[in-house]
Amino acid sequence: MGETVRLQKYIAMSGAASRRAAETMINDGRVKVNGKKITEQGVKVEIGADNVSLDGKPLKIKNKKYYIMLNKPAGYVSTVKDQFDRPTVVDIIKNDIEDVRIFPVGRLDYETEGLLLLTNDGEFTNKVTHPKFHMDKTYIATIKGGISIGGINKLRSGVYIDDFKTSPAQAEILDAADGRTTVKITIHEGKNRQVRKMFEAVGCTVVGLKRIKIGTVELGNLPVGRWRHLTSHEVNYLMNS
Ligand code: URA
Repeated sequence: MGETVRLQKYIAMSGAASRRAAETMINDGRVKVNGKKITEQGVKVEIGADNVSLDGKPLKIKNKKYYIMLNKPAGYVSTVKDQFDRPTVVDIIKNDIEDVRIFPVGRLDYETEGLLLLTNDGEFTNKVTHPKFHMDKTYIATIKGGISIGGINKLRSGVYIDDFKTSPAQAEILDAADGRTTVKITIHEGKNRQVRKMFEAVGCTVVGLKRIKIGTVELGNLPVGRWRHLTSHEVNYLMNS
């Protein structure tokens, strides 16, 4: 579901008129939504999905910035298009938001689930993916078998992956049952497959990985495969961190 706004706001966002002037245009019967003339105020339209026209000419919203949080399912690539034609995270949202080039901000592995940001704002992407953007990222890792306290302590103090020593991480065991252990781990770097490699470095195999938090922005109870717009508070926080 795309963002829904009142018709007069949509007209103002398209740049065709101020909100006040848009109300007059609606009163005068000059505005149609999906081919139907609308003369009452306050009708809601969905950006990217409903067709709004003024005097018969389509009104598009240009330069609108989208900031999205997706609960990425496993089995999707974090790119716009995949060379092997696997499903992409953009496939999930492109039916809801048409005609806008939205791309993932950073990436999660093909098999990893959870919190992925997407946007059409290059500046936002640059900020959030910049190596200096040391924001904590929290994951729930499910590993095969168990992990010793020694292993947890090594994750906490830093391990070597590909000649790189990871900075101190937060790690705690959440649960252990049926031959699997779940560990909550927070890191602030973003090396390729970092969490999986960190567990490998302490002799553990990750069989499930989900990102639940970036800084203070949380996935919460957003179902797998669903997305929502970030709140303006979340966008400002990420932009200004
Ligand atoms: N670490 C990983 O190993 N995989 C991810 O997708 C993200 C962090």
